[in-house]
Amino acid sequence: REAKLDLITKHIKPFPDFPSKGILFRDICPILKDPGALTAVIDLFEEHVRQTHPQVELIVGLDARGFLFGPLLAQRLGVGFVLVRKKGKLPGPTVSVAYKLEYGEAEVEVQEDAVAPGEKVLLIDDLLATGGTLCAACELMKKQNAEVMGCMVIIELKELNGVEKLKPNTLFSLVQY
Ligand code: PRP
Ligand code: HPA
Repeated sequence: REAKLDLITKHIKPFPDFPSKGILFRDICPILKDPGALTAVIDLFEEHVRQTHPQVELIVGLDARGFLFGPLLAQRLGVGFVLVRKKGKLPGPTVSVAYKLEYGEAEVEVQEDAVAPGEKVLLIDDLLATGGTLCAACELMKKQNAEVMGCMVIIELKELNGVEKLKPNTLFSLVQY
C-alpha cells in the first residue's frame, strides 16, 4: 500500500497559478500516462470498497475526471457505472441539483432511470476541493432515493474543508494536501 501511494503521489504534478493566480492546481494527467500508477489507484480504491462497502451496487462518476477512474473501478468490482454530468449533456428525462460555485452557479444532472430506489451507490471523482460538486451529486442520488454509501477521490485538498460540507456523507481519499 505504501509503495502504491508513493507511486501515485509521484504522478501528481503541481501547477502554480492555474487556472488563476494563487491557485496551486494538482494535475492527475501523469497518472493516466503511467499504467503502473493508474493500476495503483484502482487497486487502492478496490481494496477500500471490498473492505468497507462490499455491498455496493453501482459506481457513480462525476464529470469529467471522475469518468477516467470510475469505469475502471466499476469493472474491477463487477458493478455498473453511471455518469453525473454537467447540465445539458444527457439525453432523455433527467433530474438535476444546482449548487454554488465561487462565482455563480452550476448544476449536475443524471438520467432519471439511471439509479433505482434503494440502490447502494459510491461516488467517485479525481479531487475534492470545496466539496460543492460531490455534495450536489450526493443530493442528486438522494433525490433518486439511492443509498449513498460514501465518496471517493484520489486527492483531498484539506485546507478547503470539503469534508465538512460533505457531511453526513463520508469521504475516502488516497492523497491529502
Ligand atoms: C474539478 C474537480 C472536481 C471539482 C472539485 O472539476 O475535478 O470535480 O472541481 O471542486 P469542488 O470540491 O470545489 O466542487 P472542474 O469543475 O474543474 O471540472 P472538470 O472535471 O470538467 O474539468
Ligand atoms: N486540481 C484539479 N482540479 C481542481 C483543483 C486542483 O487543484 N482545484 C479545484 N479543482
